[in-house]
Amino acid sequence: MRARASLSSTICLTTACLATAFAVGCSSGGGDTTGAAGSGGAAGATGSAGAGSTAGESGAAGATGAAGQSGAAGATGAAGATGAAGAAGAAGATGAAGAVGAAGAMGTAGAGGAGAFSIPTVAWPSDACKTMAATLIGQMTRAEKAAQMVMAPLGIASVADVQTLAPGAVFAPGGYVPPGGSGIAAWGSYLDGFIAAADQTTHKIPFLMGADVLHGNNTAIGTVIFPHNAGLGGSNDPALVQKGAQITAMEGAAAGLNWTFAPFAGVSWDDQWGRVYESFSEDPMVANMFVAAATMGLQGANGLGTGMPALVSCSKHWAGDGQANPGTSNKGGVVDRGNITIDEPTMMSVGVGPYLGALGAGLGSVMVSDASWNGTSLTVSSHMITDILKGTEKFAGFVSTDWNAATESKGASIAGAINAGVDMLMQPSDWKGAINTINTTTSISDARITDAATRIIETKCQAGLFGWKRDTTLAASVGSADHRAVARQAVRESLVLLQNTAAALPLPKTAKVYVGGSGSDSLDTQCGGWTIAWQGAGHLTTGTTISQAIAKVATVVTDMTQADAVVIVLSEKPYAEFEGDSQSINTLPAADFALLHTARMSGKKVVAIVTSGRPVLISDHLTDADAWIAAWLPGTEGDGVADVLFGDYHPTAKLSHTWPMTDAQVQLIFTATPYAPLFKFGFGLTY
Ligand code: BGC
Repeated sequence: MRARASLSSTICLTTACLATAFAVGCSSGGGDTTGAAGSGGAAGATGSAGAGSTAGESGAAGATGAAGQSGAAGATGAAGATGAAGAAGAAGATGAAGAVGAAGAMGTAGAGGAGAFSIPTVAWPSDACKTMAATLIGQMTRAEKAAQMVMAPLGIASVADVQTLAPGAVFAPGGYVPPGGSGIAAWGSYLDGFIAAADQTTHKIPFLMGADVLHGNNTAIGTVIFPHNAGLGGSNDPALVQKGAQITAMEGAAAGLNWTFAPFAGVSWDDQWGRVYESFSEDPMVANMFVAAATMGLQGANGLGTGMPALVSCSKHWAGDGQANPGTSNKGGVVDRGNITIDEPTMMSVGVGPYLGALGAGLGSVMVSDASWNGTSLTVSSHMITDILKGTEKFAGFVSTDWNAATESKGASIAGAINAGVDMLMQPSDWKGAINTINTTTSISDARITDAATRIIETKCQAGLFGWKRDTTLAASVGSADHRAVARQAVRESLVLLQNTAAALPLPKTAKVYVGGSGSDSLDTQCGGWTIAWQGAGHLTTGTTISQAIAKVATVVTDMTQADAVVIVLSEKPYAEFEGDSQSINTLPAADFALLHTARMSGKKVVAIVTSGRPVLISDHLTDADAWIAAWLPGTEGDGVADVLFGDYHPTAKLSHTWPMTDAQVQLIFTATPYAPLFKFGFGLTY
């Protein structure tokens, strides 16, 4: 078990760590808002900190430190938005970095520094959008503004309902199937009716059309499904993640969607959680880079409205997602929506840190977590929503709740959530009642309602949604070869080679290969949860399984005795959220291990591929295969696996999450001491 109390002294948020791709650990300690801290310490808002430390908002940090927003950092440090960093440091948006540093959008990088990928700092909303929103708000009643603050759920709300009540958004619950089925055309024509209904409302304010478009447009069949985030998080290729998210946005917009509950910014520190695979990394700095990349791909490289076709991002779940204590789940799971017991500096670095790049890049919306922090529901935390997110971090967009959280999160209420700073409610249980409650609750002030509705309308304006209609020509490129090629690249860049005894890989293309295991021919296990159905139903869509991909390259034999090499794909069954929480990570089927053992006994060369949503227990079986690959949840493009197996591409990915040796290590992360997992964070072989 990891020692939470010591974590704040071992993690900081520095882009220098990103620049060195997992190799460098950083340190920080606690300081107050205006204080100064010494070696290993951290200083707050305007402080300055010494060697190895972190300084906040406008601070300055020494030797290996990191400084926030407009700070300056020394030798190997990293500075935020407008800062300057020294020798091997990295500086943010308009900063300058020295020798081997990397600088952001408008910054200057020194020799050896670079990057095809940089995160901009976007100021929004535009004056035009502010004026438009103010004009509309001036014409709206309290009830009309309250309606902007609620999402109407598809499957419950009709077109007539939304035309009458003019909610701010329409959203698809996970796994929702439109009346005409899950094809893009059926989604498109169904959603067109809702989109058009906005024009019939009094103020003609467009609806946000939301869904969990998470790894490709996973709501519709025939789309390309990308690897889930845990795989992408090992790629060290944010530019590719940005490109994939752009394709995701295009395939989402083709269905008539303009808003997605993504990217996931949680830093999972517990493999028992059913959402590990949604987490880019256990390192908040790595997560920050990929969350920003995904946001830029989804919304546009320079903020809302710059990336049409695009989706407004709703990054989630603010904040500290992945840090909850086991046994505290509010949903009958183990960890999901549990209680987080970390101190404020740790919340800032681990819980808030992953959002910073995306916030700078113009993130449009944020979903507040349904978990609790030190016993208080985050859904009603005015400290985290109003003080930190909207205050310190100057978030310009709007905040939504998670599923029924305003009434189901422990200690929460609709008035409590809105007064804490929530702007929009996801209350599928009673969305009409939620509008009425906001409107009629006297403890919710007119000013708070005006602020919330203004933020929502400004976001819609900035995103270009006034006058937006589904572009029917986009359907032609959904699931296209070009899009699948990008996902195939993402697959090969997310495969982590864990073991390669006697150079078993790559396999020669002349080899006769036996392919088996529960995941060998299954889009269900390749795609995991949040694919067509909430709990995953990848088989309903189109893709290439791993065995199909292998068969395109080599001869597949069905009799193991005839094979030169045996490939066994050991797989977890798909799951999502609390349904996937598990007290043990011994989740691979016994039959897969038995088959692997049979393969070992056959005397052939044996390759084990694991498809899973979390690191799983394999330590007792390592010797049953020559080579082991962690493929995470690769999605529909199994060809990417064959690319690496047969040596057309070298494996390059590194573990984004520590791989435990035993169930006792499910909470072990790279900052822990002692740290002796089966495979360390950042581990990955190549050939
Ligand atoms: C999940 C969110 C998701 C929402 C809408 C909730 O149960 O926690 O991540 O966006 O459902 O499907």
